[in-house]
Amino acid sequence: MMNKIKARITGLGSYLPEKILTNQDLEALVDTSDEWITSRTGIKERRIAAADEFTSDMGFKAAEKAIAQARVSVKDIDMILVATMTPDYASPSTAGIIQAKLGATKAAAMDVQAACTGFIYVLSLAKAYIESGIYCQVLVIASEKMSSILDYTDRNTCVIFGDGAAAAVVSAAGAGFAIETVDLGSDGSLADLVVIPGGGSRHPASHEVVDQKLCYIKMAGREVFKHAVRRMAAAARECLARSSMTMEDLAWLVPHQANIRIIEAIASNLDFPMEKIYLTLQKYGNTSGSSVAIALEELVSKKDLKEDDRLLLLAFGGGLTWGATILRKCSE
Ligand code: ACO
Repeated sequence: MMNKIKARITGLGSYLPEKILTNQDLEALVDTSDEWITSRTGIKERRIAAADEFTSDMGFKAAEKAIAQARVSVKDIDMILVATMTPDYASPSTAGIIQAKLGATKAAAMDVQAACTGFIYVLSLAKAYIESGIYCQVLVIASEKMSSILDYTDRNTCVIFGDGAAAAVVSAAGAGFAIETVDLGSDGSLADLVVIPGGGSRHPASHEVVDQKLCYIKMAGREVFKHAVRRMAAAARECLARSSMTMEDLAWLVPHQANIRIIEAIASNLDFPMEKIYLTLQKYGNTSGSSVAIALEELVSKKDLKEDDRLLLLAFGGGLTWGATILRKCSE
């Protein structure tokens, strides 16, 4: 019998823009306070891309680092998948722009839209491509320039999001993190809860669309909050059940970095200690599709993980979409 291929992350990289926007800076823009933002979200500051720095630029920089860590030749990359809700253009894809910048001449390229769940969605696709034997090296990137879709007069959204990117090389062999199990879900009937109404085929760009601020993200925060807790906790349980594991088998939980209160509610729901939950939201805010990937990269570079340590990645976002995946540290 042939050995079953197991997809694994063999390299990680991230990129955060230099400019820091603090809660105090936001106090000067909207009717808010450091106290409100900190106590309601846990966020203290976030990064903002330069005016001439785009989603593809951030994704490219993260990808270069992931490729170097994986020690693969860029010419061997078979496929590039970019998770983003803030692409450079409506068309063509941001993945294609990064493919050209990298010189990944063999690679196919496409974008995936799953809002804040984007990284787990592209990881699942990479796993499927590799374990089916179609491809050997898949580059997955999550990159978001959330500042390009934020209305800095809307305190409901502008205090929450930040910019940033992370990337992973997913390979058929090598040391890294095996992608053990994936659980994904969606509920399109709740699409209105997180939406950028303008700029698509429903409300194409026009003076009216711009005047009505329809090209900015709108979010029903309180409703999203409830669904986020319920869906992420259920996805975690489903993923663990499929792997015949319990929360006690996990070394770390890496959740979507949206709001500390959502994370605390999930920890309480799953009876999981906060000390084993990796957090970056205080310094980067919610970087949408990139958030789990940025936190994963930082966790792996800062913590001493052991062979067979299990990490649970959890995400939730517009769509609605949600997802969970279990990674296992492996030496080959
Ligand atoms: N500063 C001060 N006051 C504020 C601010 C602010 N930045 N924002 C809202 N408020 C006010 C509201 O106007 C409201 O005032 P009112 O009671 O007089 O009407 C009050 O604070 C409470 O507002 P809520 O919206 O109920 O506040 P909540 O505690 O729910 O916090 C938040 C809002 C932080 C947005 C929270 O609901 C949240 O994190 N939701 C989930 C977001 C999320 O997870 N998104 C992920 C998906 S996003 C994606 O996919 C791109």
